[in-house]
Amino acid sequence: MSFRRARLGNWIIMAVLLITGAGGAVGGMLRDRLGHHELRLTDLHPAEGIAALDVTDGDAVEKACQGVDAVVHLGGYADEAPFDDLLEVNVRGTERVLAAAQRAGVPRVVLASSNHAAGRHPRCDDLADDAMPWPDSYYGWSKTAIESLGRLCHDRYGLHVICLRIGACKPEPVESRDLSVWLSPDDLARLVEASLTATGFHLVWGVSANTRRWWSAAGGAAIGYHPRDDAERWAATVRESDERTQQTVGGRA
Ligand SMILES: NC(=O)c1ccc[n+]([C@@H]2O[C@H](COP(=O)([O-])OP(=O)(O)OC[C@H]3O[C@@H](n4cnc5c(N)ncnc54)[C@H](O)[C@@H]3O)[C@@H](O)[C@H]2O)c1
Repeated sequence: MSFRRARLGNWIIMAVLLITGAGGAVGGMLRDRLGHHELRLTDLHPAEGIAALDVTDGDAVEKACQGVDAVVHLGGYADEAPFDDLLEVNVRGTERVLAAAQRAGVPRVVLASSNHAAGRHPRCDDLADDAMPWPDSYYGWSKTAIESLGRLCHDRYGLHVICLRIGACKPEPVESRDLSVWLSPDDLARLVEASLTATGFHLVWGVSANTRRWWSAAGGAAIGYHPRDDAERWAATVRESDERTQQTVGGRA
């Protein structure tokens, strides 16, 4: 399966992208930076330029997948929530998205995972992108579940699945933990762009080129992601984080 749209070397000039959860923070940052693609923006809560789509509705997701080159799946709970809600929206919703993509012939799905999928790992230098799932919350567990669903759909259907273990994606670092785990909006766009040509199954840290980063850059480099931003620029102005947030990958006590 290949992209139907123009390519320049390894870069897709224009692809048709279905983005779920596009009304959220990450969706907004991507929308501003991926405008050269044809974007189909969707969210549970429709808004101007964003169509209604509940990711737990498999038929609706399949319809939205028609003619799409890649799904960028962001929709769901982005933090700790009751287990049943995470199971329904994050896990079942992602299963619906993967199955719909497969049925509609979409070759590639980019999944928003999280550092909390590996959040209990003690902080260490250069932790591998595929560090063993070790969630620090039900939210983190839901992300380990979607990573393994992605793996299953890759193995079973040949879908290319790229799981982004995102650190803290925000306009700029605000606390000292961010100096290690920040993903700048521009690097976020670079990471998604690189994912659009990746083949196979990948777990990749979603983090910028921070001087104080804790996580490996190898998984990103393997798919052509080369971050450029460094949180160090804000080192003198960020507030001090609680020391406990610096001891584990996910920073939860
Ligand atoms: N922002 C970060 O730093 C960060 C870090 C790690 C992982 N992530 C992941 O990235 C994704 C986006 O995060 P965000 O910060 O933009 O979160 P957000 O809460 O701002 O946005 C999530 C969006 O998903 C939508 N949504 C909720 N339920 C839905 C459903 N059933 N169907 C369709 N859409 C639904 C919400 O309406 C919302 O607009 C999430 O999956 C989150 O877990 C984000």
